This record gives sequence, C-alpha cells and structure tokens, in this order.
Amino acid sequence: MAKIVNSWNDWDPLKRVIVGRCDNSVIPPEEPATSEKVPVDSEMRGMWGLRPLATVERGNECLENLVKILEDRGVVVDRPTPLQWNQAIGTPDFRNDSMMTCMPPRDILLTIGSEIMASANSFRCRYFEYLAYWPLMKQYFDEDPEFKWTQAPRPRLTDASYKHNYYDEKISLEERLVRTANKDFVTTEVEPMWDAADVMRMGKDLFIQHGLTTNRTAMDWFQRYYPEYRVHAVNFPGDPYPIHIDATFVPLRPGLIINNPHRKLPEEQRAIFEANDWQIVEAAQPAHDEPPALCYSSVWLSMNCLVLDPKTVIVEASEVYQQEQMDKLGMNVIPCDLRDAYPFGGGLHCSTADVYREGDCLDYFP
Ligand code: NVA
Repeated sequence: MAKIVNSWNDWDPLKRVIVGRCDNSVIPPEEPATSEKVPVDSEMRGMWGLRPLATVERGNECLENLVKILEDRGVVVDRPTPLQWNQAIGTPDFRNDSMMTCMPPRDILLTIGSEIMASANSFRCRYFEYLAYWPLMKQYFDEDPEFKWTQAPRPRLTDASYKHNYYDEKISLEERLVRTANKDFVTTEVEPMWDAADVMRMGKDLFIQHGLTTNRTAMDWFQRYYPEYRVHAVNFPGDPYPIHIDATFVPLRPGLIINNPHRKLPEEQRAIFEANDWQIVEAAQPAHDEPPALCYSSVWLSMNCLVLDPKTVIVEASEVYQQEQMDKLGMNVIPCDLRDAYPFGGGLHCSTADVYREGDCLDYFP
C-alpha cells in the first residue's frame, strides 16, 4: 500500500491536493460573531440564502481551471462531496438555519506529516462542513496504512464562546485596529477554536494567527497535542479583520516570505525569522481596488498563491503586479483564472488543501 498523505509545509513539491467545490454554496444567516467578521461596508450584510446558480457555475469553472493546471503537471487532484448546504442544523447547544459550502478546504483541513486533522471552526454554519471531506479521508485511510485521520476537539459554540457586547455597527476602523493591537477579539477562551487557514506550517514550527477565527486556547491545545513542535502565536496589528494567515504572511520557499504591507509582522515576532536569515519581503499591490461581488475577503487575495515547488507558483491571472514580483523573486509563475471563485471563500491557497508534498519535517529555525 502506498503512502498518500505527507506534507510539512507550503512549498515542497506538490503531488496530491484537494480542490474545493462551489456546489450548493450558501451565504450563511446571522449568528453570534458573524457581524464582527464581515466588513462594515460589505454588500453581504443582512443577506443570506443559496448563492445565485450562475455564480456557482462560474466559480466551479474557475476551480476547473485550477484542476487542469494541476493535472497537466502530474498533480493528483481529489474533490470533496458537497452536501445540501442550505439544510438547517442543530446540536445540543445551538440551532442554525443553514450551513455554508465546501469551499475553501484550507479552512477545514490541516495536514501535518501523515495526519490530516479537521479543525475546530468558530462559525456555527461551518460545524458540519468536514463531512464533505469524509469520503476522501476514508479513502486515504483504506489506502495509506500510515494515514492519521483526526478530528480536533469539537467546540460547543454555545453563547459563551462569543463576546456579545463586542460589536456595534458604529465602531470605527481605528477602534477595530486598537482591538486587534490589544488582541481583543470576538471569540472567548472557553474552548479551543481554530480555522486551519490560520496555521502556517513550517516543518518543526507552526505559526498560528491569533484573531477572529482562532483563539489563544487553541494555541495551548496545539502545543500540548504536538509537544515535539514549536507553536508560535503571531499577530498582524494592521488588520482590522484578522481571519486566516494566507493573505497576510505567505512563504514561497525556505528563507523567503511575502508579507502584506498593511499587516506587518511586529518587530519582536520577526526576530525568529531574522535570526535564521529568512527574508520578509512586502507583497506587491493587488491589481484590483475592490474584491468581486458577494466576497468575504479583501483585495489581498492577490497574494494567496499556491506554491507547487520552491521554484514554481500559481498566481491569479489578473494579479499582474503579484506575478511580476514573483518573477523577480526567481519564481516561475503560472497564471490561473480564479477570481470568480473568490466569493466562495478565497483564492488559490484557500481553495486547496495539501495531501502530499515530497519532503520531510525539517527544522528551519534551529
Ligand atoms: N481575511 C483575509 C483572507 C484570507 C484568505 C483577507 O480578507 O484579506
């Protein structure tokens, strides 16, 4: 039986990957902490329900562009099995009028070595999203005797998991930035909550963004679960909506990271990179002034790229400045038309989850 699952970072040669699907995607209804996470000026405020079919079809077309690029390069691509996401759900602790989507997989699945772990998301509407990946997990389990199929402790997501007086529509951007700087987020610390896209894997080190979707208790949990790794909490004070690290701090190869110029890693947290001769370069400006319609993310999905190996990267086709910068940094750039998939949860990195990259667990920060 073959080894199917192995990945320790975001840059080793990619051989097998999961690409999400937009089918049946829903704009989820209001729940505790949704308002805190959706930008004040977003046209999505107050909306919910199935996303328009034409946008779903177009989003899927974009994902097919990505699948083709990957398969043409010999990468095996696996796809989730979408559920009827507009079903209401319930647990002993909460009810929600619908789920969301199986885009993007990066938020749900964390691959560390031969283990894929389903995360402990803080959104109620995402509570059952892992089910879309369970057929693949079972397949890997049957075919790879070393595969560790794991589910992180499930948060209860009662009202105690959220601060209820945290938000008021009138809070200014400046006030939001003060809160980010003070590490004052809408989630409480009653249980570990985390999205896999807040975790940046670098061999022996895990850099985890503390923000609206991942709390401090999750960091403690990670350190105890993986005592042999070093867990570092990172913060990006310039981000008023700190959700997911992969449009903020993105490694391209050992020794090189691009950092969102509006969300700089603070001096004291840069020390470990500098001490180990890593270069942190400001990412190029996005090509767009606005995200596409009905999108949760910012224009900085421009830097949300998929590294195929330390010399090759897929960048969104319209992001010409980011492509140019990657080229200057010595990467071969493959453009992929994916922008119309952004509304479903993100860019090229978000839309995927690692299954197999060649390589071992190395110590990049000895
Ligand atoms: N929250 C990030 C997206 C992360 C993929 C942003 O909107 O820039």
